[in-house]
Amino acid sequence: MKARREALDSAYEVLRDAIFHYRGAPLGTVAARDPYLVAPNYEECFVRDFVPSALVFLMDGEYDIVRNFLGTVLDLRVQQRVMEGHQRAPGLMPASFKVVTDPEGEERLVADFGDLAIGRVAPVDSALWWMVLLRLYTYTTGDHSLAASPRFQEGIRTTLDLYLKESFETSPAMLVPDASFMIDRRMSVYGHPLEIQALFYAALRTALDFLAPTDANAALRKMVLKRFQTLRSYVRIYYWLDIQRLNEIHRYQAEEFGHEAVNVFNIYPESIPGWLDGWLDNDSGYFVGNLGPGRMDFRHFALGNLLSVIFGLAAPEQAQRIIMLYDRRWDELVGHMPVKILYPAAEGAEWAFITGNDPKNVPWSYHNGGSWPTLLWPFVGAALMVGRGDLAERALELAAQRLMVDNWPEYYDGRRGGLVGRRANYYQTWSAAAYIIASRLLEDEAAMNVFRNLMFDELDPGQERQILAS
Ligand code: GLC
Repeated sequence: MKARREALDSAYEVLRDAIFHYRGAPLGTVAARDPYLVAPNYEECFVRDFVPSALVFLMDGEYDIVRNFLGTVLDLRVQQRVMEGHQRAPGLMPASFKVVTDPEGEERLVADFGDLAIGRVAPVDSALWWMVLLRLYTYTTGDHSLAASPRFQEGIRTTLDLYLKESFETSPAMLVPDASFMIDRRMSVYGHPLEIQALFYAALRTALDFLAPTDANAALRKMVLKRFQTLRSYVRIYYWLDIQRLNEIHRYQAEEFGHEAVNVFNIYPESIPGWLDGWLDNDSGYFVGNLGPGRMDFRHFALGNLLSVIFGLAAPEQAQRIIMLYDRRWDELVGHMPVKILYPAAEGAEWAFITGNDPKNVPWSYHNGGSWPTLLWPFVGAALMVGRGDLAERALELAAQRLMVDNWPEYYDGRRGGLVGRRANYYQTWSAAAYIIASRLLEDEAAMNVFRNLMFDELDPGQERQILAS
């Protein structure tokens, strides 16, 4: 218990040190405070990294910083530059931003929309996290005026315009380029990655709650509702993998044409990886990482699965089984440090091919099967939601023993996550914030009440009818 308390104090210190101000007001947290940062943009405030910081601030009643952040990210959209001669859509929100002080001492904000980021990756998840955070802020503070203001209403509409735009999808899932979310390097996560679908689902649900029911919004609200409903059933059916489903896929016929096809994506049973043999038992299951023509990515991605549990994208029984898999496969999915970002790592020729020979993503490191302390918050939250406080406790205990002693690293390496990541920053803000959330959730009910604002109840049929009839 003493180690846990000391670690909590130390985590708060890391988080406090990461707060920065803009023109006198608190605005966000920098990604890391390591004096030897591995890349310069860790000095910036990443939208996705701020989410766990915001959860802590909301649990502590510090609302200003979250409100300032939400408004600023919205306003920063005007900074989008033309990239390689290409004018980007106004609904995109930045990956990160920072405060720059002019020689005259004047402060201004500079944002990166992926036009500066390593690899020029598109931050598709930013606006989705922004919607999630807007909802969390609104329900926690009871301040509905922000979401209802014309400026935020316009922000929600512009985001939806971009994210609902008809593209080349053949399904309700959203099609995105590689590296467009937490895994922001080439990692064969283009197409329809689960994490984006979970965030998209949450953003659509938020829009249904917040878009004013005016005549001008009627068509948009209908569109949002349809996409929300179809996305939910699509993911629940087609992304789901358990022992029964695996058996079906194992015996799939291929080359089926037309409406009667069962194997609609033409998945060849030969593509089932060897490690899945015997991996699932009768009580466990998970959503696969990605799905597309001839392609089922069987890798297990932690954040997409955990967010599906928290947001209710997973049906209640699926949620139980997703967490049960952690119980049954603790060694592989948690090991010495919660939680492994994906399982298993790509190795050999496959690693070379899917990462483009990326030395930062060697097997069992970083995005390629590394262990990320920041995943502690969705893990503990999701486990508690399905009544598995024992697993949440176990994960927190592991983190308490290592994180403070190791100076709050960004990630860990190794099959079981036993080594501090080779190129990990120390004093990584979202590692510390995740630890705080996890310990608060296990200790106090008020914190859990804030967390519950991330969950979505099923839409009530009256609300659905009313949107469809308008
Ligand atoms: C790395 C991570 C990304 C994170 C950023 C800042 O690029 O892959 O998810 O937002 O670092 O911590």
